[in-house]
Amino acid sequence: MAIKNIIVSSTYFLLLFLLLLSFASCTKNKQVYVVELFGDEHEPLHQIENTHHSYLLSVKESEDEAQASLLYSYKHSINGFAALLTPKEAQKLSEMEGVVFVHKNQPRIYSLHTTRSWEFVGLDGSLNPWTEESNQTNGDSVNLLTKAKYGEDIIVGMIDNGVWPDSKSFSDEGMKPVPKRWRGVCVNGTAFDSSQCNRKIIGARYYLQGYENDFGPLNEKEDYKSARDKDGHGSHTSSIVAGRVVPNASALGGFAKGTASGGAPLARLAIYKACWPIKGKPKDEGNICTNIDLLKAIDDAIGDGVDVLSISIGFSSPISYEDDMIAKGALHAVRNNIVVVCSAGNSGPLPHSLSNPAPWIITVVASTVDRSFLAPIKLINGTVIEGQTITPLHMGNSFYPLVLASDVEHPGLPTRDSGYCLDNTLQPNKVQGKIVLCMRGQGKRLQKGLEVQRAGGVGFILGNNKLNGNDVPSDPHFIPATGVSYENALKLIHYVHSTPNPMAQILPGRTVLKTKPAPSMASFSSRGPNIIDPNILKPDITAPGVDILAAWTAEDGPTRMTFLDKRVVKYNIFSGTSMSCPHVAAAAVLLKAIHPTWSSAAIRSALITTAMTTDNTGNPLTDESGSPATPFAMGSGHFNPIKATDPGLIYNASYNDYLLYTCSLGVTQNLNITHTCPKSYSEPFQLNYPSIQMHRLNHTKTIKRTVTNVGKSKSVYKFSAKSPKEYSITATPNILKFNHVGQKMNFNITVTENKGQIVTKDGPDKYYFGWYTWSDEHHVVRSTVAVSFA
Ligand SMILES: *[C@@H]1O[C@H](CO)[C@@H](O)[C@H](O)[C@H]1NC(C)=O
Ligand SMILES: *[C@@H]1O[C@H](CO)[C@@H](O)[C@H](O)[C@H]1NC(C)=O
Ligand SMILES: *[C@@H]1O[C@H](CO)[C@@H](O)[C@H](O)[C@H]1NC(C)=O
Ligand SMILES: *[C@@H]1O[C@H](CO)[C@@H](O)[C@H](O)[C@H]1NC(C)=O
Ligand SMILES: *[C@@H]1O[C@H](CO)[C@@H](O)[C@H](O)[C@H]1NC(C)=O
Ligand SMILES: *[C@@H]1O[C@H](CO)[C@@H](O)[C@H](O)[C@H]1NC(C)=O
Ligand SMILES: *[C@@H]1O[C@H](CO)[C@@H](O)[C@H](O)[C@H]1NC(C)=O
Ligand SMILES: *[C@@H]1O[C@H](CO)[C@@H](O)[C@H](O)[C@H]1NC(C)=O
Repeated sequence: MAIKNIIVSSTYFLLLFLLLLSFASCTKNKQVYVVELFGDEHEPLHQIENTHHSYLLSVKESEDEAQASLLYSYKHSINGFAALLTPKEAQKLSEMEGVVFVHKNQPRIYSLHTTRSWEFVGLDGSLNPWTEESNQTNGDSVNLLTKAKYGEDIIVGMIDNGVWPDSKSFSDEGMKPVPKRWRGVCVNGTAFDSSQCNRKIIGARYYLQGYENDFGPLNEKEDYKSARDKDGHGSHTSSIVAGRVVPNASALGGFAKGTASGGAPLARLAIYKACWPIKGKPKDEGNICTNIDLLKAIDDAIGDGVDVLSISIGFSSPISYEDDMIAKGALHAVRNNIVVVCSAGNSGPLPHSLSNPAPWIITVVASTVDRSFLAPIKLINGTVIEGQTITPLHMGNSFYPLVLASDVEHPGLPTRDSGYCLDNTLQPNKVQGKIVLCMRGQGKRLQKGLEVQRAGGVGFILGNNKLNGNDVPSDPHFIPATGVSYENALKLIHYVHSTPNPMAQILPGRTVLKTKPAPSMASFSSRGPNIIDPNILKPDITAPGVDILAAWTAEDGPTRMTFLDKRVVKYNIFSGTSMSCPHVAAAAVLLKAIHPTWSSAAIRSALITTAMTTDNTGNPLTDESGSPATPFAMGSGHFNPIKATDPGLIYNASYNDYLLYTCSLGVTQNLNITHTCPKSYSEPFQLNYPSIQMHRLNHTKTIKRTVTNVGKSKSVYKFSAKSPKEYSITATPNILKFNHVGQKMNFNITVTENKGQIVTKDGPDKYYFGWYTWSDEHHVVRSTVAVSFA
């Protein structure tokens, strides 16, 4: 069994892995396959299991062998099974009547892909988001939450790595009985029995077949064999969606003190634990989830009756729909009217890095809120340089010598490894009693601080490299520390080089609000364009995902460095698209509560077309370099739950539309579903999506869209567009007159190249961005447009 980790990002929160796995050896010639069958929706569940068994029996020698080889039966909407098969048996099955596809399982790695965050989007009842032209008052947000009954009737399925049920965030005090339609269960396991479920956590299950088949039995020192969370991630995401209101919550050292609350504090949680530790690795190196476990978790969630699925799981790079069991499961979930929200991943800022691009999923990237944890550096000449940390340690009032890591390393270190404070690289005699500046770019952030501590340093400054730019991380280090932007790192380097006795002091960290432009994209947040299908613009939307305070497990320190960090915290600050995804899931809960008849496409459309593209200073939302963020970084903009409740028009789509879409992709994606497709179907870009991407446009193209009126019965919407100089956007008709709610109108959007404006050397993969809107007196329904030219 060979497992190779390739560290994509050197940073701790953003650590991602690509595991190259070859574990054919475990069970002779047998590998895990997923076999999908044509479904009969009305078949009773036990009969479905019998059918699965009989398929297996037809390729296996005996009843017992068939029984032993079956890992899971999928039976709610998805009809199929996971089993251990030889390639021959798989081939035989794939030729049988009734089999849709036989797919060799790929192990799937999950990347970790509150207080202030809800206030920041105007949902705490006290503050409006930064103002666009909007005029949202306290009243609006209280209104939204009360109208949605704080999510009390809505059930959210969390596909993650469990929950810490003892956290105050999951108390069910004062909650009404569990909705009658709930069909889920609370599965007993280690340190978690059915008594842990209550009116807040209404279901809990866990999935180990895929994991144990690939990696051997769970090491019960590393995780609980139950839905209990030993890691922190699952508790954090669950409490962001639906944590109760907990006053005076704060992280280690009192940072971010305030009232912790989920976005939908009375929503019900159903826990599906499908992700487990990487054996023998500390938690901060990631968790692993297998395709078949994820598919089973989604299948059960469909059967149990969840309304929204929050999935902060994904590959570090895109994979085809065929290999992607989250995409497959999500399609079935959407068929059952479940809204599926997924994280886009933490593989930014490089392009093409986003995962979960299926158009039936809401794909969420991550941005900042207007809160900082400032811990400036004071130079002895009086100059103060801004820094950020959540380290609860102070160095007192003295100044200490400031050195650059590259000047105090053991001699002979290769230049490429220099300046990063990697393990055992610093010379204690040159570091003793000093503050050391270490650069990002290689190695883990917290480990660098430990290296400075090992060498006897009294303080540690983490300098961003150019790629990270202004996106300064906030970490809980083990010695007094702070982090600085790339620009400030250069200032410090200049200071050290220009002074004979550079001396500095790191001031204690403190929480400050409203001091910086926000939101701004996190540098770790994955980017488009969508390479799985260039006809669909992804990501969809951004939400808070940087330094989010939420519930934690008591079994793991705030840094998840299992072997080192024995600190115990009830609440912890954490970053990732894993944190932004549950924010949008909570917004979906509120929308679903207010508009119970809306489809998942309607909810996505409402969120996308009302998203904000400016920050709290009224300027365009920026990325980590300080430039305006493109739609490949921020999607259609920052979510705005209050506006999304009243979008005016929505772009709807049904399960059948998605099927036709996959038919149109069948050829390129080898989905092998073409035999269920009608003879003719439109092209993939005709899917009624609320944004538009045209890839390698040859001069001009017209596509059809349909909007449904969900605003005032009598209303008139006018078209308007803003396009770059490279093309123009027109609509026919350009006025839409509605007479009743629910009325649909078609229009055509034509994008035409402006002659002589395309710089051919930019090539066919250079995208140019614009947008169009439909607006009446009350609504602006905005669609983002991305075009590249052949
Ligand atoms: C916002 O609302 C206040 C109070 O209702 C009103 O005075 C003000 O003019 C409004 N501002 C805008 C921009 O509509
Ligand atoms: C689960 O555990 C509870 C409490 O220990 C016990 O009462 C119950 O019977 C168990 N249920 C099952 C299905 O084992
Ligand atoms: C929260 O903290 C404040 C000040 O520290 C204190 O006055 C208040 O009683 C605390 N509230 C709760 C519910 O503990
Ligand atoms: C202190 O040193 C820095 C870095 O060399 C320099 O930019 C700054 O102007 C100095 N401040 C004062 C007050 O001399
Ligand atoms: C959208 O389409 C679905 C059917 O696919 C339908 O149930 C729903 O009413 C439509 N409209 C809205 C606003 O969701
Ligand atoms: C899809 O079908 C083709 C032709 O029937 C077959 O060659 C191919 O292996 C199938 N692919 C999968 C993934 O099942
Ligand atoms: C663009 O379309 C024209 C005809 O409409 C065709 O001759 C040309 O080959 C096309 N170019 C590309 C790059 O597809
Ligand atoms: C859109 O274009 C198609 C094809 O050119 C045409 O058949 C249809 O009538 C147009 N729809 C509208 C609303 O103009």
